[in-house]
Amino acid sequence: MAPVRSVLGEVDSVVVVFHDLTDIRRTERMRRDFIANVSHEFKTPLTSIRGYAETLLSGAKDDPKIAPDFLRTIERNAEHLEALVSDLLTLARLEAEVPATREQVDVKSVIDEQISSRTSAITERDIRVTVACLSIEVQADRSRLSTALSNLIDNAIHYNKAGGEIRISAEMQNGTLNVSVADTGYGIPSEELPRIFERFYRVDKARARESGGTGLGLSIVKHAIESQGGAISVTSRIGAGSTFTIRLPV
Ligand SMILES: Nc1ncnc2c1ncn2[C@@H]1O[C@H](COP(=O)(O)OP(=O)(O)OP(=O)(O)O)[C@@H](O)[C@H]1O
Ligand SMILES: [Mg+2]
Repeated sequence: MAPVRSVLGEVDSVVVVFHDLTDIRRTERMRRDFIANVSHEFKTPLTSIRGYAETLLSGAKDDPKIAPDFLRTIERNAEHLEALVSDLLTLARLEAEVPATREQVDVKSVIDEQISSRTSAITERDIRVTVACLSIEVQADRSRLSTALSNLIDNAIHYNKAGGEIRISAEMQNGTLNVSVADTGYGIPSEELPRIFERFYRVDKARARESGGTGLGLSIVKHAIESQGGAISVTSRIGAGSTFTIRLPV
C-alpha cells in the first residue's frame, strides 16, 4: 500500500473511526437545548432590568414612592443573573473532566462549616438543624463534597416550612460514606422525582423563582458526587418532606 501523508508525517495506513451518528446527534441536540435554556434563563431577568431602568429614566426616578421599589427589583434580578453565572461556572468546572482529588476529609467539619455559613437564613426561617455524625475521616474530594452538601442544605432551607426541621446524618457502611439531608418541607411529587436532577428543572416554577433558584443546584450535586464514583438518591412525601442521600465509596 502506498504511504499516506498525514499530520504525523508519512504513515502506512490510516484508521478511520466512525462515531455512532445517533450519539453525535444526541450530543448535538443536548448542546442546542442547553444553549436555548441558558438564553431563556438570562432573558427573563435581563428584560426586567431593562424595562425597570427605562421606566426610571423616563420619569419614575423622581417619584420617591416607586423609585426605591423599582431599584430593588433591578437589584434582585441582577443578583439572580449573578447566581446563574456562578452555577454555570461551577457546572463547567465539573464537566471539564478534571479528575476528583483524594484528600483526607473530616466529614463533620464539612457539614458544620456549611451550616455555620447559613446561620442567618436558618434563624430567619426558624428552622431547627440537627446533625448526627461521629468523627469520620475519609479519602474524598473535599471541595466537591462541600459543593454537594451546600446545594442540598440550601434546598432543605428554601423548600422547608417556616419552623421546620433539617436532619443531617453521616455514617460509614462497608467502605461507603452515606450522608443524608432530610427536611420537613413541601415534598416533591413522585412523578417529578426523576427530573429534578436535570439542569434548569424546577418543580414549582413560581416558588423557585421567588427563592432566586436557578434550577442548576441538583445537577451540580449529581456531577460533584458521580465524578467521585458515588451516587445521589432522593425519597419524598408531599407535605411531609424530602430526604437526599449521598453514597460515596471512600
Ligand atoms: N428539599 C427539597 N424540597 C422540595 N423541593 C425541592 C427540594 N430540593 C429541590 N427541590 C425542587 O427541585 C428543583 C430543582 O432544585 P435545584 O437545587 O436543582 O434548583 P433550585 O433550587 O431551583 O435553584 P439553585 O440552582 O439555586 O439550587 C427546585 O426548584 C425545587 O422545585
Ligand atoms: Mg437548589
